[in-house]
Amino acid sequence: MPTPIGIVCSGSSESNAMVILYEGMEKKVENESLVVIRNKNGGDVLAVCRGGKGVNESLRTGGFTPGLAYAKSRRMPSSVKEYYVFNLEVIGEITENGISQNRMIIAPTSIVEIFNDDDNPMQYLGKSDLTIGHYWGKKNWKVPVLKEYINYHIGVFGVTGSGKSYLTRYEIIPLLREAGYDVIVMDWKGSDYAPYFDTVILLDQIKVDNQTVVKYFASITRNFGYHEREENPVAAAVETALRQVEWRGRDPAESRQLVYQKAKSIITTSPGVKEDTRTLQLNRLEASFELITEEEFERFLGTIEPWEIVAETKDKGIVVIDMSKGIKEQKLAVFTSITKYLKKLMERKQVLNLALVIDEGPQYAPWQPRGMERDATDMIIDLCALGRSYGLSIVILSQGMAGEIGLNAAVRRNLNTQFIGRIHPLDIEEAQKLAASYYITPETLLTLPEGHFYFLGRMNPSPIPLLISFQIDPEKERRKNEVGLS
Ligand SMILES: Nc1ncnc2c1ncn2[C@@H]1O[C@H](COP(=O)(O)OP(=O)(O)O)[C@@H](O)[C@H]1O
Ligand SMILES: [Mg+2]
Repeated sequence: MPTPIGIVCSGSSESNAMVILYEGMEKKVENESLVVIRNKNGGDVLAVCRGGKGVNESLRTGGFTPGLAYAKSRRMPSSVKEYYVFNLEVIGEITENGISQNRMIIAPTSIVEIFNDDDNPMQYLGKSDLTIGHYWGKKNWKVPVLKEYINYHIGVFGVTGSGKSYLTRYEIIPLLREAGYDVIVMDWKGSDYAPYFDTVILLDQIKVDNQTVVKYFASITRNFGYHEREENPVAAAVETALRQVEWRGRDPAESRQLVYQKAKSIITTSPGVKEDTRTLQLNRLEASFELITEEEFERFLGTIEPWEIVAETKDKGIVVIDMSKGIKEQKLAVFTSITKYLKKLMERKQVLNLALVIDEGPQYAPWQPRGMERDATDMIIDLCALGRSYGLSIVILSQGMAGEIGLNAAVRRNLNTQFIGRIHPLDIEEAQKLAASYYITPETLLTLPEGHFYFLGRMNPSPIPLLISFQIDPEKERRKNEVGLS
């Protein structure tokens, strides 16, 4: 049974109210405490306490009062004129079918009651059997989620060490599985997921399509010596060569030599080219292949095709791509190769029921993408659009929200559900926007403990953000760490 804590003060509206606390209740009510307002105008209203204040009329500053004189001379001023108020952010009216927008003005003097541990106010948010974590401080209040918005995509934000990867591993991935999605995890560092799941594929085992290999070669050779928008006969020759010779599954030195010779012969024999242009092309090819070394070829000798990865995911439920061994462009090449296939399937109107988890999101889609990041960013935007129709859910983790440390704005606009943990001071502007809308102070966001996230957006049945957390299993972590070290 909820416990009465106070009454609503003057100045309330249908979406906001202030409660004056009964004496002693200031020790029980905290920021983020959940309450029900027994609205005297009708209905029970679910609300969250955000922004409390202690007031003592005798200690008002700005003018000299006897209370201040007392305090100044180290005596205790009276606490008779002391009271505590809390701002209440309305979640909605409690109805038979969950929560609905509250339209009735909350009457001043309405009684406010706080929920106790064994009341479960989460039930009022809807009858979803899918949940994520638990409400702040209440381990048995599982927070319900709306399944139908999973493929409206998910963003997880917070500084390094705020618990993004843990939230994803402990809560989001199991939730996706429960909702019927199979999951591919792109594990950028190879340490956040790979040690914890059974099916792991290494970066260099994966076959990258020829077009993407050429993009990669272009990225390490300054576009084979050509300007970005210029026609690029050398790139074209290398791409044709990659297509025409059997270069995979060989010794890297041999592969490289085969492709080089083939590209050279394509340029040498292409008709209608002036001799000095041809010489220039051959020079650029040679210069490029000084950078396209054996080691570069070695990165792309993998033979597991994207369709095999998807098939494996459908079979096993979860597949982790361990991207730890490889340079950034190579990782982006593999990403592009896999996602190209997913895109093709959706363009053929195939429903995927698949989720793609992208940790370290700004590595793929930063604020201002360059080179291969540009392709990855465009690809993610396309996947988001198609995914809403064809059952692909994109989950992106990022240490920043906006600006230089943040995620590309066009990508971010597609993430309709967000988990926001402790943020970086550079994101203070984003925090202020949240503060203005929901009474969550920027200071709160800058100091959230690890594993705590505000949950907001489409998947949240509550129209205002809820602070959630989740429990980790120290035993499991310890075991994996020991395996990792051995
Ligand atoms: N729910 C939680 N409870 C307690 N500790 C947590 C929780 N979530 C994360 N942590 C701690 O925070 C650390 C950082 O988490 P991690 O997910 O790796 O952060 P990020 O991915 O944001 O850099 C973990 O090593 C773990 O010790
Ligand atoms: Mg992480």
